[in-house]
Amino acid sequence: MTPELEDLFSFLRFPSVSTDSRHAQDVRACAEWLLAKLTAMGLTTELHETPKHPVVVARNPQVPGRHTVLVYGHYDVQPVDPLNLWTSDPFQPEIREGRIWARGATDNKGQMMAHVLGVEKTLREHGELPVNLIFLFEGEEEIGSPNLASFLLHHCDELRCDVIAISDTGMVAPGVPTLGYGLRGITCCEAILRGPKGDLHSGLFGGAVANPAAAMARLVASLHALDGRVAIDGFYDHVRPLEDWERHMWSHVPGVSDADYLQVTGSPGLFGEPGYSSAERLWARPSAEVNGIGGGYQGEGSKTVIPAEAFVKLSFRLVPDQTPKDIMEKVKNHLEWHCPPGVQIEIRPGHDGKPYLTDPNSKYGLAAQAALRAAFDAEPVLIREGGSIPIVQTFRDILGADTLLLGLALADAQIHAPNENFPVVNFEAGIRLNQALLAELAK
Ligand code: BES
Ligand code: ZN
Repeated sequence: MTPELEDLFSFLRFPSVSTDSRHAQDVRACAEWLLAKLTAMGLTTELHETPKHPVVVARNPQVPGRHTVLVYGHYDVQPVDPLNLWTSDPFQPEIREGRIWARGATDNKGQMMAHVLGVEKTLREHGELPVNLIFLFEGEEEIGSPNLASFLLHHCDELRCDVIAISDTGMVAPGVPTLGYGLRGITCCEAILRGPKGDLHSGLFGGAVANPAAAMARLVASLHALDGRVAIDGFYDHVRPLEDWERHMWSHVPGVSDADYLQVTGSPGLFGEPGYSSAERLWARPSAEVNGIGGGYQGEGSKTVIPAEAFVKLSFRLVPDQTPKDIMEKVKNHLEWHCPPGVQIEIRPGHDGKPYLTDPNSKYGLAAQAALRAAFDAEPVLIREGGSIPIVQTFRDILGADTLLLGLALADAQIHAPNENFPVVNFEAGIRLNQALLAELAK
């Protein structure tokens, strides 16, 4: 195994699951390993405590007059459940069929480590970097970066930069270099419907008492019209229409046809807003999703019960110029207004993040395209992303810098799911990409 893969494997062995407090020590150990790696490369490093998981910062000697590039990544990962669906241990990385299999292999340890090792290689080859570099790595991305904005506010002078680079997004097809210039925002909430003071016998009371689970089904169904549009009043009010050049450009992007989405998801059918292709729906239109729903008997066989309560976890993906605050207001109004009679509703707002959009052909965007072209020896495609990295708009708000999204995540990487994987060739390309990017940005 190459020393680069050895490093990635060591990094992947930490179960740095940020959402699970039982893994808090593992998250910290992962941060400390990373810090040691960056220190050994000759960078000046800092580990910053936050109320939860540490932030790791590293820099080369900053030379006046050079461009300053901030590379962001996250060393935390999603939980692994359901564990029984993994072919190999999520924290014992393995290479099979040219891919690295482990939780975090793509999201985000593999992509992030490619940047670190690209820098290490450049330092080995040239003794220095052509830019002022700031590495900023956090351990809370997968839980909505609750402490990073305040970290940025406290350290904004030391983190001043000309541009930010992140590899934590998608690549439309193997070998097709992909520059992201937009991300959807997000706002989440949970709704709980409460009925009787305890579970009831459904024969003794069924037909006379409102059933919270049935009420929840009606409430959830009210979120969409039958044609696929989101049926919340005013939901689309501030949506910026797609530009003709984007629709035209995206219609030529490989790997994102309706047939591709059917194939990669294994879903028997697609569903969404009429009048848009799947790529347009994902990248430039907002959506409403049910992330979890429950209530009542979940065990084997039947149990004749009216549950005392039911819950749903909802998230809404947002596009410019929607704001999380405005949409959550509208969601609340909708849920309260459509709540069926006979139950009480409680709405608990969750985390959120703003959408992001930039110009892929800005001077830095063009540098990123050149780096992608050099690393992959192919013409880059320009896309927006359906996923969210809320800190990207916060970077713009606080540091005043735009972000280049140099995605290496394939559609079948199974991020957040069992059997997450990352092709070895993407890892190697990521190392070349970092080297080419710093060279291009130095020009
Ligand atoms: N790396 C993903 C986001 C992503 C993946 C964007 C692929 C585009 C393509 C990131 O780690 C992630 O999962 N973000 C969360 C954000 C949320 C927890 C606030 C998401 O999008 O659900
Ligand atoms: Zn993720």
